[in-house]
Amino acid sequence: MAIRGYVFDAYGTLFDVHAVVEAGRAITTDPAALSAAWRQKQLEYTWLRALMGRYEDFWAVTAAALRHAVRRLGLTASEAELARLMDAYLSLACFPEVRAALARLAGRPRAILSNGAPRMLAAAVAASGLGRHLEHIISVDAVRTYKPSPRVYALGPETLGVPAGELLFVSSNAWDVAGAKAFGYRVAWCNRAGAPEEELGLPADLVVRGLDQLPV
Ligand code: LAC
Repeated sequence: MAIRGYVFDAYGTLFDVHAVVEAGRAITTDPAALSAAWRQKQLEYTWLRALMGRYEDFWAVTAAALRHAVRRLGLTASEAELARLMDAYLSLACFPEVRAALARLAGRPRAILSNGAPRMLAAAVAASGLGRHLEHIISVDAVRTYKPSPRVYALGPETLGVPAGELLFVSSNAWDVAGAKAFGYRVAWCNRAGAPEEELGLPADLVVRGLDQLPV
C-alpha cells in the first residue's frame, strides 16, 4: 500500500541532541553520563506524569529531569548553568542527512509528532532550518499527555486526515516505535546507533540506518 504521509519523532530522530551533551561540559568531565541520566529521567517523568494524569509540559519535565540527574551524579550547577543547559534544547541541529531526506519525501504531508512543547519544537525547527520541509508540527501539548498514549498517536491521522495504516511513522526511539505500531501506524525505526530491539512484540515494519533510506 502506498504511503500517504510521514510522521516523525523529533529528538534523536530529526534533531541531533549532541549540543545538549556538549553543554554538559560546563558542569562535568563526563557530559555523556549526564546526558544519558538526564534523557532517561526525562522519559521516566513523561511516562509517570502520563500515568498519573499529572501533565506538565516537556520544558518543565526536562528541567526537572536535569535537576534530578545533576543531583544523582553528585554534581553542582548554578541556576545560570542549568538555564544554559536547558537552552541547548532550543538550538539543536538536525542530523546531516535530514534536510535532503525530507526534501525527497515532498509531495506528501510531512509532520513532526513529538513530546516537545510547542515553543521547544518551533525553536528547534527554526535552528535546524527544517521549516520548509514540514507541513505540520504537532505537539503532545494538544492532548496534555505523553507518548506512548494512544491519544498522542491519534493526533497524526487527525491532523493529516489520513488513516494511521497509510502513514509511515519514523522514530529512532525503539519504545516509540512500539507505541506507534500498537496504535496502528506503519513504522520505520531509524536505528542509527545499532540499538537492540525492544521485547514488546511490536517490531517496526522496516529498519533504516538514516532517514535517506526511507521509502518514497
Ligand atoms: C519526542 C521524544 C520521544 O520527540 O524524542 O517525542
